[in-house]
Amino acid sequence: MAAAPPIRIGVMGCANIARRSVIPAILAVPELRLAGIASRSKEKGEEFARSFGCAHLGDYQDLLDRPDIDAVYMPLPTGLHAEWAAKALRAGKHLLVEKSLAASFAEAHGLVALAREHRRVMMENYMFQYHTQQAVVQQLIRDGLGEIRLFRATFCFPPLSAGNFRYDQALGGGALLDAGGYPLKACQVFMDGDIQVLSACLNDSADHVDIWGGAMLSATSCGIRIPLQIAFGFDQFYQCGIEVIGQRGRLTTFRTFTAGEGVVPTALLETPGQRREIQLPVDNHFIAILKEFCRRVHTDDVETPCAENLCQARLQDQVRRRSAQPKETAPCPPN
Ligand SMILES: NC(=O)c1ccc[n+]([C@@H]2O[C@H](COP(=O)([O-])OP(=O)(O)OC[C@H]3O[C@@H](n4cnc5c(N)ncnc54)[C@H](OP(=O)(O)O)[C@@H]3O)[C@@H](O)[C@H]2O)c1
Repeated sequence: MAAAPPIRIGVMGCANIARRSVIPAILAVPELRLAGIASRSKEKGEEFARSFGCAHLGDYQDLLDRPDIDAVYMPLPTGLHAEWAAKALRAGKHLLVEKSLAASFAEAHGLVALAREHRRVMMENYMFQYHTQQAVVQQLIRDGLGEIRLFRATFCFPPLSAGNFRYDQALGGGALLDAGGYPLKACQVFMDGDIQVLSACLNDSADHVDIWGGAMLSATSCGIRIPLQIAFGFDQFYQCGIEVIGQRGRLTTFRTFTAGEGVVPTALLETPGQRREIQLPVDNHFIAILKEFCRRVHTDDVETPCAENLCQARLQDQVRRRSAQPKETAPCPPN
């Protein structure tokens, strides 16, 4: 059977993540062809397109109006995803959207309805799931720990430069929609069963954007409830991994979410009387998710990403709602 023609993909916005990681990965995937780049700014768009040897397509609407483009990679600030993803789906484009897909469950729900209506793949770019290290980690959890008693996931990093859209509520800023999405996604990747948020706290900056927080969740399967904890934020030292405590041991991983090209992810397996440092496989997870995106487009698998998108957005909304519940106001007893 002849190979399917490459999926022609356009990039919406000259984002850092596009320049640094995703466009180089697009160029390395034979199933994709970089059709060009759109930008709000003609000068910036032309310079960006020149640096990758592709066409400058005009503004975002010009990209969507092109009949010779099949798919869009959308690394816009999160607060703009709902508007532009809806326009892209209505224009018949498949979508790889940066995380978070939407600023609320209601927005994600509306986008999923459009993806289903137009039968287009709409995938959120949580690339770490497709890194080959995760299969090894899953195996270590299954073989080395016995029954799981606690799962933790953490993604925290130091403050960002002033003016970053993540500090702007109108642009979908805040740690929950940014760093917080990774540990929530990790709960779904590593734990089976029905996941619910039990309690949460988000801590805001002066301009009402959440800067750090955490949540307690549970994963229920076959009547067993496993406690899950997540922590995230952008005002602290770098933390990026999972910790799984079982009856027979503990597994800690490092660089679970950000093991980009050339990064060697590692894990520490502790069992009674033993500490084993493990080197996990090196991979380019941006290439890996792009290949999965192509596979879903070619197999018309619209539904899998719809279900994933809804689950992630539901958990993010639950964190927000649990955090907003009335706080205990009784004063602390004296020491
Ligand atoms: N998957 C990952 O590993 C990963 C890593 C980092 C970031 N991200 C996600 O990728 C997206 C972009 O993040 P980034 O750090 O790369 O962002 P960025 O460098 O600030 O780029 C965002 C782009 O969006 C466009 N834009 C349109 N309206 C804008 C506005 N009002 N303010 C600012 N930019 C606007 C701009 O492109 P033009 O001016 O050219 O139109 C800008 O270059 C976010 O959703 C983020 O969560 C994902």
